[in-house]
Amino acid sequence: MGFIFSISKLTNFTILVLLLALCCISTSTEAFDPLDPNGNITIKWDIIQWTPDGYVAVVTIYNYQKYRHIQTPGWTLGWTWAKNEIIWSMVGAQATEQGDCSRYKVNLPHCCIKDPAVEDLLPGTPYNQQIENCCKGGVISSWVQDPVNSTSTFQLSVGAAGTTNRTVKVPNNFTLKAPGPGYTCGPAKIVKPTRFVSPDGKRVTQALMTWNITCTFSQFLSQKTPTCCVSHSSFYNETILPCPTCSCGCQNNITQQGSCVEGGSPYLASALSAWGKNNYAPLVRCTNHMCPIRVHWHVKLNYKNYWRVKVTISNFNYRMNYTQWNLVVQHPNFDNLTKIFGFNFKLLSSYQAKNDTAMMWGVKFYNDVLMQAGPHGLLGHVQSELLFRKDPSTFTFHKGWAFPRRVYFNGDNCVMPPLDGYPWLPNASLPHPH
Ligand SMILES: *[C@@H]1O[C@H](CO)[C@@H](O)[C@H](O)[C@H]1NC(C)=O
Ligand SMILES: *[C@@H]1O[C@H](CO)[C@@H](O)[C@H](O)[C@H]1NC(C)=O
Ligand SMILES: *[C@@H]1O[C@H](CO)[C@@H](O)[C@H](O)[C@H]1NC(C)=O
Ligand SMILES: *[C@@H]1O[C@H](CO)[C@@H](O)[C@H](O)[C@H]1NC(C)=O
Ligand SMILES: *[C@@H]1O[C@H](CO)[C@@H](O)[C@H](O)[C@H]1NC(C)=O
Ligand SMILES: *[C@@H]1O[C@H](CO)[C@@H](O)[C@H](O)[C@H]1NC(C)=O
Ligand SMILES: *[C@@H]1O[C@H](CO)[C@@H](O)[C@H](O)[C@H]1NC(C)=O
Ligand SMILES: *[C@@H]1O[C@H](CO)[C@@H](O)[C@H](O)[C@H]1NC(C)=O
Ligand SMILES: *[C@@H]1O[C@H](CO)[C@@H](O)[C@H](O)[C@H]1NC(C)=O
Ligand SMILES: *[C@@H]1O[C@H](CO)[C@@H](O)[C@H](O)[C@H]1NC(C)=O
Ligand SMILES: *[C@@H]1O[C@H](CO)[C@@H](O)[C@H](O)[C@H]1NC(C)=O
Repeated sequence: MGFIFSISKLTNFTILVLLLALCCISTSTEAFDPLDPNGNITIKWDIIQWTPDGYVAVVTIYNYQKYRHIQTPGWTLGWTWAKNEIIWSMVGAQATEQGDCSRYKVNLPHCCIKDPAVEDLLPGTPYNQQIENCCKGGVISSWVQDPVNSTSTFQLSVGAAGTTNRTVKVPNNFTLKAPGPGYTCGPAKIVKPTRFVSPDGKRVTQALMTWNITCTFSQFLSQKTPTCCVSHSSFYNETILPCPTCSCGCQNNITQQGSCVEGGSPYLASALSAWGKNNYAPLVRCTNHMCPIRVHWHVKLNYKNYWRVKVTISNFNYRMNYTQWNLVVQHPNFDNLTKIFGFNFKLLSSYQAKNDTAMMWGVKFYNDVLMQAGPHGLLGHVQSELLFRKDPSTFTFHKGWAFPRRVYFNGDNCVMPPLDGYPWLPNASLPHPH
């Protein structure tokens, strides 16, 4: 009996490993996320007025990703002009470099570079340099978390460009950095002109010409290594299943000295300054897993009709306060989540029949910032408790059912512990405290 059971368990396990391997191969090459298959950032470029030598355009960045946001220091949008266009002026954003504008004698353009890079302005920008939806330091919320703040807009006046819809040329090679690599943008496509409805809804105007650019994210392009890992524990077994060793990299003292800093190390300050200001790679505390983020799932209590989980997210990165962080967890009991303490929560309904995936994020001004790891080895962390109602037809503490199937932090897939390594339920039946 026991022999047959272990054989079948082994085959199931092998199949799961194979499936997992297949899924990971496809995610790394195609950038397809099964939990957000249509996730993309769309850039819409509306020409709203022709000028004597070009046009005025309003550019809007829409984040249509359910759970991937752009946090500080924000986005940078680049493109290559098709002809010798220049930017006369901008509202709500700026080009990072002016370039050589010596051809112009009277009025100096804002930017004369063939491939400009544009960034958002900071909050508190003077009112006359603002446009609606601008000036948020390049921060764009994810679509589920804060749809109101999931767009960013700027306006630019383009010169030396076409002045009719037949002579104007679409720029090429759009790039979106947020702030590092990860996004790939397709070509600009001419689409049906946008219709703008006035605030009172009584008048509709339309753009003279509109083009759309779609950018998609690939974790593979962004970072060669994962950025988070998951550990498990339970009240019924003292075993803590840690993050797999080397989940996000290995400690390598010979080739890469200083790839991590011990908690409480006196060298932390110098390591931080040596890391450089524009280096967004994490500087982590030394651990076996070497991940900037660890998500710990603890099965905490068992009641007659409910069970309770404590989730803790810990920040091992000395260089990052994760603002507007979010967590996506897949577990079959989410359709019966009864209460969540301390986090916001939303089910991510998908095409699949089951409502088994939830997104959680912090409460504004309370725990929406996951603070950087401090000196003296203190970690920044946030935590929450989840109360699930048991569905007797599916609920069990056996075979690791109580642990999550898949976890994302800020849209990045977290490394899970081995499938068969979960803490086992002891033989004796569980006590019912209530
Ligand atoms: C981008 O996302 C939006 C919203 O989900 C979707 O309607 C649109 O089809 C997507 N675009 C592409 C090119 O996938
Ligand atoms: C959008 O962002 C602004 C500025 O940060 C903030 O005041 C506002 O509360 C946000 N909107 C929502 C719905 O949270
Ligand atoms: C340009 O505008 C004319 C009318 O002004 C319209 O008929 C034509 O379809 C437009 N062409 C494009 C490429 O938008
Ligand atoms: C766009 O980028 C590709 C690859 O980097 C390059 O070969 C091509 O020349 C670029 N096009 C323009 C118009 O700059
Ligand atoms: C262009 O993008 C805007 C904003 O996402 C969208 O409303 C519009 O439907 C898009 N047009 C096409 C043809 O995809
Ligand atoms: C790296 O060095 C630290 C401190 O010198 C040591 O504790 C750790 O075990 C070393 N790691 C490896 C993989 O050699
Ligand atoms: C994180 O926030 C703390 C407190 O606001 C601040 O002192 C620290 O410089 C911030 N760290 C980073 C990397 O921005
Ligand atoms: C999933 O949730 C949505 C909205 O909460 C609900 O309308 C739908 O019926 C649920 N689907 C299932 C299979 O429970
Ligand atoms: C759990 O949720 C499912 C789907 O919403 C529902 O059919 C079922 O009755 C619920 N079970 C309990 C015990 O509430
Ligand atoms: C706890 O779980 C581990 C597997 O993670 C198992 O080896 C051990 O026997 C379990 N302890 C008890 C008391 O069941
Ligand atoms: C579990 O039960 C089996 C047989 O019923 C027994 O051989 C084994 O020792 C028990 N294990 C524990 C940890 O109690």
